[in-house]
Amino acid sequence: MAQFTVENLPGDLSFGSQVRGVTWQTLEDEHAREQLRELFRERGLLVFKDMEPTAKMQVALSKVFGPLKDHPTQTTPRDEETGDDEHGVIDMHYDPADTTGPYSGGFVRMDGEVLTRYSPWHFDHCYNDELNYAGVLRCAVAPPEKGRTGFMDGIECYRQFPRELRERIEGLNVIYTLDTRLSKMRYGVNFELEGGDMPITQDLLKEVAIFPRAMHPAVWTRETGEKVMHVGSWMTFGIEHHEDPEGDRLLDDVCHQINKMGHGTSAYWHDWSPTDMLIWDNHRMLHAVEGCDPKYERHTIRSTIQGDYGHGYFEDGKKIGEVYREKVFAEGD
Ligand SMILES: [Fe+2]
Repeated sequence: MAQFTVENLPGDLSFGSQVRGVTWQTLEDEHAREQLRELFRERGLLVFKDMEPTAKMQVALSKVFGPLKDHPTQTTPRDEETGDDEHGVIDMHYDPADTTGPYSGGFVRMDGEVLTRYSPWHFDHCYNDELNYAGVLRCAVAPPEKGRTGFMDGIECYRQFPRELRERIEGLNVIYTLDTRLSKMRYGVNFELEGGDMPITQDLLKEVAIFPRAMHPAVWTRETGEKVMHVGSWMTFGIEHHEDPEGDRLLDDVCHQINKMGHGTSAYWHDWSPTDMLIWDNHRMLHAVEGCDPKYERHTIRSTIQGDYGHGYFEDGKKIGEVYREKVFAEGD
């Protein structure tokens, strides 16, 4: 039986679906595979329930939607189970017992609580000229409370965005760099940092000094006609041709508005079970992690699917390796 069932996500949102009953047999059935691809194009986010919780299954499910893409950096740890067999399955493991690992530290204080693994709203590979089509995520170890991953639909966000602010940002490009240090975040900052940044954010700086700055449109239009609001606040450096106080104010207002909409009906927050697998359209959705109490372990594994939307580019048409941003390298010390 290749049959699976589809229902709306809790809250009857205009995007996203929950899918049950996907097995190895489903993944061998080309008709079922095409149905899943079509559902994904339409809904932008699929939550697969009761999946076999293995790296092998994650890779097989990912490949329904396209070939895997390697991670643009070497510093980012890879998943041990898939190892070198598959491209770019990355391992994001916070273990409270490991006080010096790549994902240690980076605690934030928000609404009176101290949290680890907080990630502000963003889209993956924003610091690159080329985006990935989609990410597939599972959570092998979820904290008993909080630690949810949030997804914001850019189509719904565009529809609901305050018109005046939307008109000011539409048509502009946003500048991104792979600086994931929360201490350096410039726009939409809604937390206080407790202690230092995560070691991995510092280690990445040496590697990314040769990355030119990347530009992506704040709003873009899908082939099917819908406009997509697509501005992350993490890794965001400014507005192209408006690196001035006025541009900074505009971007800050946009990012705070997105934070606010994280509590509304353009966002969905996923509470993880170890047998869930989730895919999101990275051209269309933003995502975030709400963080959790630092005493709890959290382990997520992501595979990444190739496919660009064609609207991003590196500054001055440069390629990776054609610039050397000395200051960025020096800050990596
Ligand atoms: Fe991400």
